[in-house]
Amino acid sequence: MLGQAERLFELNKLKTGPARQGTAKVIAFTSGKGGTGKTFVSLNLAYSLAKQNKKILFIDLDSNLSNANIMINVVAKKTIYDYFTGRALLPELVFQYEQNLHFIFGDSGKTDYPKSKLDQTEHLFNQIHSLEKNYDYIFLDTGAGANDEIISILVNSDLSILITSPEPTAVMDAYVIIKFLSNNNYAGKKLVLVNKCSDPADGEATFGNLSAAASHFLNEKLHLIGSLDFDQGVGQTIIAQELLLKKEPGRKISRQIIKISKSLHEFIHMANIHHTNSLK
Ligand SMILES: Nc1ncnc2c1ncn2[C@@H]1O[C@H](COP(=O)(O)OP(=O)(O)OP(=O)(O)O)[C@@H](O)[C@H]1O
Ligand SMILES: [Mg+2]
Repeated sequence: MLGQAERLFELNKLKTGPARQGTAKVIAFTSGKGGTGKTFVSLNLAYSLAKQNKKILFIDLDSNLSNANIMINVVAKKTIYDYFTGRALLPELVFQYEQNLHFIFGDSGKTDYPKSKLDQTEHLFNQIHSLEKNYDYIFLDTGAGANDEIISILVNSDLSILITSPEPTAVMDAYVIIKFLSNNNYAGKKLVLVNKCSDPADGEATFGNLSAAASHFLNEKLHLIGSLDFDQGVGQTIIAQELLLKKEPGRKISRQIIKISKSLHEFIHMANIHHTNSLK
């Protein structure tokens, strides 16, 4: 265990870290608009990949409004709040949920949470990269919005997955995120997942509109990774604090999630996604 002085020293060391050693891909989930299903989708995708023998670290970066631990009914003893306030380093916060699925949980409602964590982004990613030799994927669940903190998380990830719903407001907010990424010369791939669809055509049409606008106005290429139905059962599993995929693996939406997790793995291999070695 590190002492407080060593931790503070580590936290203050904001120089660029060494070249990345591990093979894990860092994937950020974002949406712009709140409530599109980022946490539900990323948790269930993580679980699906873990069941396919991939090692996953899920980090809840929805600052001070975190709920991944609530969704899977875990009381987190140490959270990322301990990192941002200098009490712990990231590797000390890893919680083993299942053999292949580990978590770093977030926190909620702390009154002394740092207002801006932007100046810690570089150190945060150095810490994340120090963990990546242990994993195939590191998932970052972000909060709603398009503030500098969220954009800096996305810009430093290898791949971003935009979760939208077919609602025009959600599509517009996803477009705004793409615009910010474009303005920041984001080099990673941008995948889109359309959640809460009435049918697959709904997902295709939503992606078509978003992709056409991104291509026409921003010259940005998007990839559709898949769509998920709107399913009343999702809310019920969230109320019961259970992972839908664990509880009902045969349900239609569970099969859709498994298919997307396989497509994601394939896409990453086919696209030969490179690490973002230099922090921006
Ligand atoms: N496919 C779906 N079908 C029906 N309801 C869904 C689906 N996906 C998510 N939901 C519901 O949408 C709500 C928001 O989900 P979730 O918390 O995952 O969104 P979020 O994008 O992480 O929200 P926030 O922006 O607040 O972090 C939940 O109440 C959940 O039950
Ligand atoms: Mg969320």
